[in-house]
Amino acid sequence: MKKNIILIGFMGVGKGTTARAFAKKYGVYNIDTDDLIESKENKEVKKIFEKKGEAYFRQCEQDTADWIEQCVTGTLISCGGGFYKVKNLKKLGTVVLLDASFEWIHNRLKTAKNAEAKLAKRPLFSDEKKAKALYKERETAYRKVADVIIDVAGMDLEAQLKEIAKKCKVV
Ligand code: S3P
Repeated sequence: MKKNIILIGFMGVGKGTTARAFAKKYGVYNIDTDDLIESKENKEVKKIFEKKGEAYFRQCEQDTADWIEQCVTGTLISCGGGFYKVKNLKKLGTVVLLDASFEWIHNRLKTAKNAEAKLAKRPLFSDEKKAKALYKERETAYRKVADVIIDVAGMDLEAQLKEIAKKCKVV
């Protein structure tokens, strides 16, 4: 795989789960933009929001995008929910959107084994009403930037992986 796959979508849609399963199945490396930022800042995303504010975090995302553009090829990159706004997104690889309704995502998070931890690490999901408004604000924009759209609610994980591989010409 020469080109990167850039996995985008709303918080909690399952980017991490899909990315890890894809990496294992197709023998590629997966990196995550939140993990990259946390390691560079030596701070959890939640703490970066608390101590430095959202604008600082967004700048970290842009810096990460610039680094990916310069240095990363042949890699699956799972992105934080707001990463789609970086100005060079389309230069980073094939953009794949994991798409689902807000209700489906909310239910996935609420019913997860570690639901509390999943919600606690996402500062923008602490208030359901605000999270829904953010979803509404972003849903069209996500679809606009995507090269490939995967309807995760209508597809099991295995089918998602095959669809991503086919559309991104991994196999
Ligand atoms: C955010 C999503 C989070 C994380 C940060 C901001 C967003 O990532 O980057 O809390 O703006 O939607 P996940 O999508 O992995 O939860």
